[in-house]
Amino acid sequence: MKVLRDVEQVNDVVSQWKNNGEKIGFVPTMGYLHEGHMRLLEEARKENDRVILSIFINPLQFSQGEDLETYPRDEARDQKIAEENGVDMVFLPTKEMMYPRPLSVQMSVTKRTDVLCGRSRHGHFDGVVTVLSKLFNLTRPDTAYFGMKDAQQVAVVDALIKDYNIPVKLVPVPTVREDDGLAKSSRNVRLSKKERKEAPSIQAALQYGKQLVRDGHTSPEVVIKATEKFLETKTHGKIDYIELLSYPELEFLEEIDRPVILAAAVSYEHARLIDNVVFNKE
Ligand code: PAJ
Repeated sequence: MKVLRDVEQVNDVVSQWKNNGEKIGFVPTMGYLHEGHMRLLEEARKENDRVILSIFINPLQFSQGEDLETYPRDEARDQKIAEENGVDMVFLPTKEMMYPRPLSVQMSVTKRTDVLCGRSRHGHFDGVVTVLSKLFNLTRPDTAYFGMKDAQQVAVVDALIKDYNIPVKLVPVPTVREDDGLAKSSRNVRLSKKERKEAPSIQAALQYGKQLVRDGHTSPEVVIKATEKFLETKTHGKIDYIELLSYPELEFLEEIDRPVILAAAVSYEHARLIDNVVFNKE
């Protein structure tokens, strides 16, 4: 397994693989790897000759007051996990390598962002598409793998790829969960014992909301209210939002008559957790 920090070296290795006609699968992450990331690597391994994993805590997608400084890190452990999961190249750039000078061209996401996490995390998705554009250009993958845990990110990357004719196939991968339903997340380590006990209720509430739709409710407002009520009784965390939108367009609906996302964000003392379900009426 190659561990590279230098963009020139990445370019050389990728060129070599491309010349050999090898298919490249790419899994971008911010590290502190868990089973969710491993599932993405597993999918990439199945479908490609080479797998590239990037680990980069992208400062551009964190706003002031967010957890950039305290975002969990463990490089040695991540490299071990990468090796065990059949990664061919880990790309571990420094901040200076990725952003050697202030950008002269800014990317800004104009749709699919004024909802869900985009509303409270101002500029977050601008930072995500900026770093991904750079990473796609550096790694030149045939296929890139993203988790549905961050369904809004999948929708935004889908738009990026389509709007800019980026020759990368996007593969969304289902959310990996703990046995009790809590979505795996690098931030789960920051939950207190009590919060950890309550946190699975986020997914339980979303499943409850989904069931209401399956039972014939078609009003987003009714489903959102009922989901919120359910969740309020099960956790002390602060509910940042519960939203129901079309997917992947992320538009408000009068009536649930197409594929939708029901999503929630809950803030605990040291961690903000998100989760969602994407489903159709039937
Ligand atoms: P990060 O939060 O490290 O996540 C990397 C990838 O792992 C994302 O595609 C995310 O959706 C996926 N993932 C996280 N938890 C998962 C779970 N429980 N099940 C399945 N997949 C899961 O998302 C980012 O990093 C960054 O925004 C990035 C895309 C790397 C750009 O900086």
